[in-house]
Amino acid sequence: MSSDDRPLIHFTPARNWMNDPNGLVYDRGVYHLFYQYNPFGNSWGNMSWGHATSRDLTSWHELPVAIACTPTEQIYSGSVVVDSLNTSELGSIESPPLVAVYTRVSPDGIQTQALAFSTDGGYAWEKYAGNPVLDRDSPDFRDPKVFRYTSPTGDSTWIMVAVEATLRQVLIYSSQNLRDWIFESSIGPFGPEDVVWECPDLFALPVDGDDERLMWVLLVSTNGVGDAVDSSMSYLVGSFDGHSFVVDPAGSWTPVDHGRDFYAAVTFSGVPDDRRIALGWAGNWQYASETPTAPWRGVMSSPRELSLTRTAGGFALIQTPVLDLESVSVESETVRMPIVSGSPSTTIAGRRYVLTIDWQAGPDSILRLDVLAGTHGEVTIGYDTATMTLSLDRRRSGIVDLHPGFATVNETSVPLRDGRLSLTVIVDECVVEIFADEGAVTFTDLAFAPADADVLRVAATSGTGTVTVSPLREPRCDAEG
Ligand code: FRU
Repeated sequence: MSSDDRPLIHFTPARNWMNDPNGLVYDRGVYHLFYQYNPFGNSWGNMSWGHATSRDLTSWHELPVAIACTPTEQIYSGSVVVDSLNTSELGSIESPPLVAVYTRVSPDGIQTQALAFSTDGGYAWEKYAGNPVLDRDSPDFRDPKVFRYTSPTGDSTWIMVAVEATLRQVLIYSSQNLRDWIFESSIGPFGPEDVVWECPDLFALPVDGDDERLMWVLLVSTNGVGDAVDSSMSYLVGSFDGHSFVVDPAGSWTPVDHGRDFYAAVTFSGVPDDRRIALGWAGNWQYASETPTAPWRGVMSSPRELSLTRTAGGFALIQTPVLDLESVSVESETVRMPIVSGSPSTTIAGRRYVLTIDWQAGPDSILRLDVLAGTHGEVTIGYDTATMTLSLDRRRSGIVDLHPGFATVNETSVPLRDGRLSLTVIVDECVVEIFADEGAVTFTDLAFAPADADVLRVAATSGTGTVTVSPLREPRCDAEG
């Protein structure tokens, strides 16, 4: 794959290695995306924070490395907050600092939490002279996510969640100034064994849009042989009182995404109107170092707005793409294809588009959607009404021999609603994302199809419906922050 074959709306660095999103923050009209980055090569190492900005979460503008590694310090994952009250005294009230809380890894492998700050809106960063600010003398203490918590009586404090990765625990700390931290409590271990926990996030969401009924969502990434797909994410729903998180009996360990390539997702801080927008690394540690792209390696998921709904069995985290379709697709090029039972509809759809499908299923019917199809094969999205399962099969998607774990088919149950299935699918070169059941089920998978794989095919054994395909274009708005 050459650099021209890169995705359009999913961020990739111009060159070199990238993994987790870091320091997601919205400030004065600009979304900042920092990320785990190797400034010197196309494999993991020399970990630093790369930087990109966007005004619409659709087009991204890459900037110079924000926080660089040194011979004595690797810069691992972490978060950024706008310190509006200048509690850290690293800026001023008139010019509030942005404060990055990151994991510093020293040459002996000890992981501590450290600060860097910016007084120019997130472009130039200086490391805090008093680093580290939190040291447990642990080799597995990392990925701080900091947020401002306001109690029901109106008191505010900083809260940090970070992992003791091999203990499978999230630790909660509080602080008045981002420099002095007090241990509050821990969560875990539970869930699968033989994994490490990484990149936690904790935030409140209204249940079914009711601001009077807030529940807290804890995101955890798990990586290791004990994980069903090697690297994946789960969420828990519960309550948080500023000191400890208590899992709700109906809020137990649930997968965030059903594909293979959605990891280390965390949410932006500071987005107006309390919107919760998450962004993940579309990657899997199992084969991340083998993906066949150059001179870059690593791609982000599309940003997704999160909401929470009560279901019969518990809670469902809903993910809705926030892609600005108006800026990247041209209405006149949108294609509508009927789904005619028995005979497949085929079109040359290209390799970058947003597709929606609305299908009134017939009895015992199978829907099959082939994307990135060509002479080599295809990525198949399938739905079987007999088992009510949605699947994504990339076993014939192109380059699949990069790793024995790559040629996969994943599936999960998705109910029909009034006999209908509605899907939104984003195809963007090497990333395929599915949003099903109003966003309650998502799949994120990489696929490396040859350059001529541009066919879209839809077939159903019975039932009727429509497929709408909007090709993606170079974004028309200004990405620069
Ligand atoms: C998660 C992770 C983090 C760590 C970073 C290192 O993918 O392993 O725990 O901070 O990547 O690059």
